[in-house]
Amino acid sequence: MGPTLALLHAFPLSSELWEPQLEGLKDVARVLAVDMRGFGETPLGEPPYDLEDLARDLRDLLDALGVDRCVLGGLSMGGYVALAFQRLFGDRLRGLVLADTRAAADAPAARERRYQTIRQVETHGVEPLASTMPGTLLSAGAPEAMREQVKAWIASADPRAIAAAQRAMAERPDSTDRLASIQVPTLVVVGDEDALSPPDEAARMASMLSHGRLVRIPHAGHLSSLENPAAFNHALRDFLGASAP
Ligand code: MLT
Repeated sequence: MGPTLALLHAFPLSSELWEPQLEGLKDVARVLAVDMRGFGETPLGEPPYDLEDLARDLRDLLDALGVDRCVLGGLSMGGYVALAFQRLFGDRLRGLVLADTRAAADAPAARERRYQTIRQVETHGVEPLASTMPGTLLSAGAPEAMREQVKAWIASADPRAIAAAQRAMAERPDSTDRLASIQVPTLVVVGDEDALSPPDEAARMASMLSHGRLVRIPHAGHLSSLENPAAFNHALRDFLGASAP
């Protein structure tokens, strides 16, 4: 059995996002797909929380499972938490995978949009988000069935979990200046058609890493692991072979 690969999902999804990796990477790693607070099977607890609390949750889970070090991958919001984990518990990492994510904090307008989303879910529930978000998460060429699947995932999310996650993301610190000090191999992955964390942003992030490499996933938007699992898993297999023992 290879290293433990812990995977953190995007907002407002759950560990179900990682089905293609649980199946496709099980021969090279012990793959752990984690539900973050309020999503999937993990209780919300008492919000508010910040992204460092989610990193501590993962530390507790690794402790409970007796895992000393892992390769940690996060997609989008999962990537923000992976960076928080790196900041707090960098010595627990063998490698880092930052997929369709960014190191920068929100610009003021983006932060304000998150507070608008909070007001929207508090007033209208998750339906408006479930209708509009699949269009921004997936590429134009994504199959209809995948669009429906993502919509159903969002529709099943708890509005209180959505609000808490948006607040935590809005208040996250900027990690850009820390990229150069990350000492483990770091893979930056981005869907060629990611409109939310675009390839230019990923390339900038990879160029600031001391031990970074960038892989672009063709025919994929923001949820690159879901849209093109063959290319995504291929990149991870290559990377796992190279990550620190
Ligand atoms: C995600 O996919 O997790 C979100 O796009 C992250 C964000 O809202 O910044």
